[in-house]
Amino acid sequence: TRPVLIAPSILSADFGKLADEIRAVDAAGADWIHCDVMDGHFVPNITFGAPIIKAVRGASKKIFDVHLMIAPADPYLADFAAAGADIITVHAEAGPHLDRSLQAIRALGKKAGVSLNPSTPENVIEYCLDRIDLILLMSVNPGFGGQSFIPSALEKIRRVKAMVGARPIDIEVDGGVTPETAPEVVKAGANVLVAGSAVFKGGSEKSYATNIAAIRNA
Ligand code: DX5
Ligand code: ZN
Repeated sequence: TRPVLIAPSILSADFGKLADEIRAVDAAGADWIHCDVMDGHFVPNITFGAPIIKAVRGASKKIFDVHLMIAPADPYLADFAAAGADIITVHAEAGPHLDRSLQAIRALGKKAGVSLNPSTPENVIEYCLDRIDLILLMSVNPGFGGQSFIPSALEKIRRVKAMVGARPIDIEVDGGVTPETAPEVVKAGANVLVAGSAVFKGGSEKSYATNIAAIRNA
């Protein structure tokens, strides 16, 4: 089994000092930096795009895990690759041609991720598994940080884990991950935990380290 990784979502960081926040969370023990890109169309909120990611990329050498909550995604994939994304994740619901999007991401030399909303069944990725490096299962309806974990995500994690089998695919869970929910999420089969509000509460590197450790030790 793969080691459990923690990917703080910078959605909950202070955008006024984003590069410092990334440095702080890196020093506090983050494994990946999770970037939530929202377009006000696919989800009811707007965050940031490739220029911001490019501007803060130098703040950490860790993996930039870019979660695109945008539709369409294909016209922007090259921009996110050029901005320094290591993993680019698109939503299966964001367009009719998931297979094409996944091929496009790999053609840019990046790891290809697919995300599923809480209501989307896992079978939509069944025929693309060989093109996928990461599956990001939403355990809240995407758009906002600080929402509660939707329990039906656990059954989906188990089913996806079984579907993936021995393939080298990360299973990441996003939304409502806290020291309370993390143990069940890992037990169900996830190996990457996204956490926004649970990591960034406290507002200092010291609290980020305490918060990350609390999730890791849970
Ligand atoms: C939700 C985003 C998440 C979110 C998680 O739309 O994709 O990454 O920031 O936030 P928390 O951990 O606060 O639920
Ligand atoms: Zn996310």
